Amino acid sequence: MSWTKAERYRSLRDVSALEMETLRTKTAASPWRFGYHIQPPTGLLNDPNGFTYYNGEYHMFYQWFPLGPVHGLKHWYHVTSPDLVTWTDRGVALVPETTEDSHGAYSGSGFVKDGELHVMYTGNHRTDDWTRHASQVIGVLRDGKIERRNVAIPDVPAGYTEHFRDPKVWLEDGVYYAVVGAQRENETGCVVLYRSTDLDDWTFLGEIETGLDPFGYMWECPDVFELNGQHVLVFSPQGIEPDGHRYHNIYQSGFLIGKLDVETLTFTHGTFEELDFGFDFYAPQTTEQDGRRVLVGWMGLPEIEYPTDRFGWAHALTLPRVLTIEEGMLKQRPVAEMTTLRQDTFLDASGTSVSVATPDRYELELKTDGSDFSLDLLQVENESLVIRYDAAAGELTIDRTNAGEPFATEFGTTRTKAIHVTSLHVFIDSSSVECFVNDGEAVATLRVFPSELEKQLRYEGATASLTGWTYQ
Ligand code: FRU
Repeated sequence: MSWTKAERYRSLRDVSALEMETLRTKTAASPWRFGYHIQPPTGLLNDPNGFTYYNGEYHMFYQWFPLGPVHGLKHWYHVTSPDLVTWTDRGVALVPETTEDSHGAYSGSGFVKDGELHVMYTGNHRTDDWTRHASQVIGVLRDGKIERRNVAIPDVPAGYTEHFRDPKVWLEDGVYYAVVGAQRENETGCVVLYRSTDLDDWTFLGEIETGLDPFGYMWECPDVFELNGQHVLVFSPQGIEPDGHRYHNIYQSGFLIGKLDVETLTFTHGTFEELDFGFDFYAPQTTEQDGRRVLVGWMGLPEIEYPTDRFGWAHALTLPRVLTIEEGMLKQRPVAEMTTLRQDTFLDASGTSVSVATPDRYELELKTDGSDFSLDLLQVENESLVIRYDAAAGELTIDRTNAGEPFATEFGTTRTKAIHVTSLHVFIDSSSVECFVNDGEAVATLRVFPSELEKQLRYEGATASLTGWTYQ
């Protein structure tokens, strides 16, 4: 189905309770709904936004188009959690309805000031002739709604196009900084930096100079933080060509580790690394609480049709991951709180060949002696997601060629990572797979749409121990 502009840019304010109820019913009837992931009640979810710990709870917002599985008028939906694993729906927090955000309240971040949760996001405005105008807006969460405080950055500075968005704010020595994803007039991507002492006046400091120049035509969703004594710059570049096993998704998400100097505006760094080698990961955002840096991404990508579209909804957020830098390497591990979701142990086996019926939602730990193996997940008749390890080549391959309803096949149906594998830690939630390798050395996130409900797991290869827990 193709959507007209008028259909895409309808606000939730113009939708009757009955129409919403019809959409909710259609969504609820979908197979492949999630059990323990943040998913939209209807419509399309994209980037995580405003991820903040505030008043004893984690607050997460996400980009939301309520009316269908397309990128229309973006609202912010709100969920909260005491523990990052059980989430409560708080409803829509931001309905775009000012001149600045007339065509979408785009992505942004959260921070706490004077005991209140603040957000800074991009107002996306289109003129009558459909020219884009981006501005950066600050809001405050009051009674579950984001109230507009001020337009912090009304215009794009000279030298950049209107692809100027996704501010991430942090506080350092009493000064607020914001990085913004940008496109230069020569159509290359970069990140720029602003500073403010009061949230009212923002000074444009300039571009953060990296050694990646040029590197794609736009950098979306930047994030900067300190981790184990170093700085990390996360961003999602668009326009990167495949290179060996890397960069096969439509757009990428990755990071640089190094040192940011906010005075000279330079970031000295090592190589750009992808955060996730799966098929469905984009636009992540982090927050810090009690010294723990947690990342959540969008389990999806733009401009791709997914099988749930026909049920009127699309996508979810990933599980939260804890980031650390160990011996110069970024590690990503599922938050420890995940273990509170474990129910029965449905699998506890060791050997070279294991086969078992699996529940719809589960966690699996696999430890091997480091030689070849093949693991079939979500197996139904001749259909399965295959995770294959070739020890001689030192390569782990995720193969969804024949894993259920095909989609996005033009981007390839396998993903491979050069890594010596001794353990996998896998989370399955009906239509999602998140596979952590070697205690956080690498992660692959992907969607799979099996055709039937009764599914199996089959393991063959290296001597291994396998433990599986049912989730609700
Ligand atoms: C990334 C992105 C952001 C933008 C938002 C709009 O997926 O394109 O750059 O703010 O989505 O929904």
